[in-house]
Amino acid sequence: MVVTIRPLPWLLADATAHDERVTAARPVQPRHDDILLATYPKCGTTWLKALSFAVTNRSRHPIAGAGAGAGDHYPLLTTHPQDIVPFIELPLRHLHPLDADLDALPSPRLLCTHVPHQLLPRRVDEMGCRIVYMCREPKDVVVSTWHYINKVGNGFFLHFDQAFDQLVDGFSLYGPIWDHCLGYWKKAMEEPEKVLFLKYDDMMADPVGHVKKLAEFLRVPFTDEEIGAGVVEEVVRLCSFEKLSRLPMNSSGVADRIGGRPMENSAYFRKGEVGDWKNHLTEEMTNKLDAIIEEKLKGSGLTF
Ligand code: A3P
Repeated sequence: MVVTIRPLPWLLADATAHDERVTAARPVQPRHDDILLATYPKCGTTWLKALSFAVTNRSRHPIAGAGAGAGDHYPLLTTHPQDIVPFIELPLRHLHPLDADLDALPSPRLLCTHVPHQLLPRRVDEMGCRIVYMCREPKDVVVSTWHYINKVGNGFFLHFDQAFDQLVDGFSLYGPIWDHCLGYWKKAMEEPEKVLFLKYDDMMADPVGHVKKLAEFLRVPFTDEEIGAGVVEEVVRLCSFEKLSRLPMNSSGVADRIGGRPMENSAYFRKGEVGDWKNHLTEEMTNKLDAIIEEKLKGSGLTF
């Protein structure tokens, strides 16, 4: 199945000029040992990419000293986390810094997607690919999305009320946030060995515990020596908002990741906090969104 995500018009004004290449994009060919990092936009994709890369590549790229002189060439210190794990649905993949050819990547591949579980290529399930899903409190998602759109919109301005209405109406490229979370949640409940379901807020509260869990799920558990040497804490520090957001390639410059519309590298790093919604949502908005989410998630066992 070919998943074609139409570029947002305000991000890609001349989308039609690329249409031929969009339809020509080769769909991903899942492999049994692929690991798919799945998120709804603004739920911590950048963070999850960095953590998963650091955890799975630590024999090739040791973490120890990655912050100091010896580790200056460590990939996450020189490459934007967005460019370290490719999206499977990027229609203009050949414009991406990682380039087009997912087939050429060695196994096991780390891949990323915003596509809802219900719309993933069937072979992802058939091949037994494992998925790490990260969700986030929807009230923080709407705030993050609003800031992001206005930062990368190139003159386009979205009022907060509009961003809020879009989220509660389920108006999004990737479908309603509740359906997105529920699709992966149900799969995680049915097959916990196939889907690791993470929550941004829980990760922030206990990053060390969650990074250990992530490593186990990715089948590269930390050894006792590593734990004793503080490697888990080093991974957490290296991938922290404070560390990553200050690195030159993450805090300055622009990159064209979707084709035709370069965006600031810093757009992926804003506050990195839990609960910023309290500074933006009125009481009425809070009650409305909470009620919708409660109703949509009723009986699923999922809460934010
Ligand atoms: P805020 O806008 O609330 O600050 P995505 O990566 O899915 O686009 O999500 C972006 C959100 O994740 C932004 O949230 C961003 O600041 C936050 N973020 C980016 N890097 C992070 C990190 N290393 N740790 C925690 N949060 C991070």
